[in-house]
Amino acid sequence: MIPVGILGATGMVGQQFIALLANHPWFKVEWLGASQRSEGKAFRDAAAWRLPSAPPEEVSRRTVEAAVPGRAPKLMFSGLDSSVATEIEAAFAAAGHIVVSNARNYRMEQTVPLLIPEVNSDHLVLLEAQGAAKGWKGRIVTNPNCATVVIAMALAPLRQFGLTSTVVTTMQAISGAGYPGVPSWDILGNLIPYIGGGEEEKIETETGKILGALAPNRDAVLSHAVRMSATTTRVPVQNGHTASMSVSLTQPPSPEAIVDAWRSFSGKPQQLELPSAPPSPLVYLDEVNRPQPILDANRDGGMAVSIGRLRRCPIGSYKFVAHGHNTIRGAAGAAVLNAELMHREGLL
Ligand SMILES: NC(=O)c1ccc[n+]([C@@H]2O[C@H](COP(=O)([O-])OP(=O)(O)OC[C@H]3O[C@@H](n4cnc5c(N)ncnc54)[C@H](OP(=O)(O)O)[C@@H]3O)[C@@H](O)[C@H]2O)c1
Repeated sequence: MIPVGILGATGMVGQQFIALLANHPWFKVEWLGASQRSEGKAFRDAAAWRLPSAPPEEVSRRTVEAAVPGRAPKLMFSGLDSSVATEIEAAFAAAGHIVVSNARNYRMEQTVPLLIPEVNSDHLVLLEAQGAAKGWKGRIVTNPNCATVVIAMALAPLRQFGLTSTVVTTMQAISGAGYPGVPSWDILGNLIPYIGGGEEEKIETETGKILGALAPNRDAVLSHAVRMSATTTRVPVQNGHTASMSVSLTQPPSPEAIVDAWRSFSGKPQQLELPSAPPSPLVYLDEVNRPQPILDANRDGGMAVSIGRLRRCPIGSYKFVAHGHNTIRGAAGAAVLNAELMHREGLL
């Protein structure tokens, strides 16, 4: 078993890491780190556990440590708050750790892979240039924003039809805001048409990098030319982000060809049969009232993205609705899949 540590272990994403790694065939949680508020406490006393299954007893009893390198395992998952991730993740990478991060801080750095293993596993080669560019003994790999991952996965198979632009409105779950997150007074029976922290900009910039191609000298990604316009909203849903999308294609095919492109889409995780890989990363649902968070967020352990309602768009070429689990495919599950790929590629 490969020992792993979790930075930000007490948060929403940190808890999801603990749940996903509880029975993992390769990775074993042996270190937990968080802020001074939690340091020195048993995990069960430091974290407000929000998931249906209890954490493993061994993790529950483990003492939360300061988020500084020294005693932690080489492989670190990070669910750190973005206000502190820049310094802490760099300190771990400089000390030789492999940091597989959810935080936004390094996603758009030139030599940091922004990975969705089914879409751009070849971007891992950026790690070769990262050492020289950053002067770190270790490395940082990131996964996308929790809404971006749903959007980029739905768009990836549409590149072959000449994808030029996308207009998207998201309806995002409250678990995306961490814990305690959005005050209940603000969200119950309500919708908030704004998510802070540059959520719309993240969707608009990260998507191009994810869908882009490696530069000829393999030390950067040339962003895909798709133009993105995003509006992000918070809705009173516990888990699962929904995206209503309209796409413009230069060679729009039949609706059947689009559905076929989604249903037949797969990548490295499926080829390598990685433990967290869903059998089909994209699942198209024929029912007119799907996808829905309650019915579809947990599909294939929360790792598959569900798509439905494909129809012609009077403005663009087609419109549809995509949905995925924000703390699993959009966060901890994505990072675990990244680490599984890195392990199989001999990068850990
Ligand atoms: N929730 C999602 O759906 C989602 C999806 C994708 C990406 N993300 C990203 O993942 C990260 C975590 O999100 P979250 O929702 O889990 O947030 P959260 O529930 O607020 O958890 C934040 C974590 O960061 C730790 N932390 C805060 N300040 C610290 C400090 N000074 N030193 C060390 N640790 C510190 C907290 O520890 P304490 O408990 O000790 O304060 C906690 O463990 C964020 O960067 C977020 O943008 C979240």
